[in-house]
Amino acid sequence: MIKLVDVRKVYKMGKVDVEALRGIDLEIEEGEYVAVLGPSGSGKSTLMHIIGCLDRPTSGRYYLDGREVSRLSPSQLAEIRNTKVGFVFQSFNLLPHATALENVELPMIYRRMRAKERKKRAKMLLDMLGLGERASHRPSELSGGEQQRVAIARALANDPQILLADEPTGNLDSKSGEEVVKMFDDLWRQGRTIVVVTHDPAVAERAERVVRLLDGRIVQ
Ligand SMILES: Nc1ncnc2c1ncn2[C@@H]1O[C@H](COP(=O)(O)OP(=O)(O)OP(=O)(O)O)[C@@H](O)[C@H]1O
Ligand SMILES: [Mg+2]
Repeated sequence: MIKLVDVRKVYKMGKVDVEALRGIDLEIEEGEYVAVLGPSGSGKSTLMHIIGCLDRPTSGRYYLDGREVSRLSPSQLAEIRNTKVGFVFQSFNLLPHATALENVELPMIYRRMRAKERKKRAKMLLDMLGLGERASHRPSELSGGEQQRVAIARALANDPQILLADEPTGNLDSKSGEEVVKMFDDLWRQGRTIVVVTHDPAVAERAERVVRLLDGRIVQ
């Protein structure tokens, strides 16, 4: 389902090149549960952004469902980002002026789901994450852990086949963290492909496979 061949990513910072990824070869099958581990700055978020089609490799090839991503049109990429992949970012990326409910509705608006149906689903997802009472709060009126859960609800809005999560439990207390771990387990059992960046041993333990990054390379 996901295949990267010699993927490199270089960030140009003035005269300095930052080599965030230095030749990544990685295959992930449909339905796999993979944890990505590695120290800060090793390229984990960069790798996730490329897998989620939010960024492009500087060189190398990325195939998603057998199609080379660099050959897809901008509208095909937008379609993938909105329906095929759900992304939970390290820094939440919620719209600050929208309520929790509206943030979760957003991917369904892009998909042109009817208002009634989409509000119902957004409410159901927030309930599932224990945030039913917080639906009308804006992100600044929520704790870090609550914002993270809104971000997870949003990632699930369009029922994506692939769930990508960057430190999804990093800002959660242990109880909310456990709930997220359980939820990922359920999603995986339902057949989703899950790729999760984590420092949390409880999350890594659930995964079938661990990919370890160091200085932009896979070391294990
Ligand atoms: N937009 C950018 N411009 C320039 N350099 C960047 C950019 N994003 C990341 N980098 C650099 O690329 C390297 C990899 O960054 P990345 O964010 O992928 O690390 P990470 O493994 O996710 O780290 P962390 O665990 O701290 O989140 C780092 O050295 C970082 O400074
Ligand atoms: Mg990161």
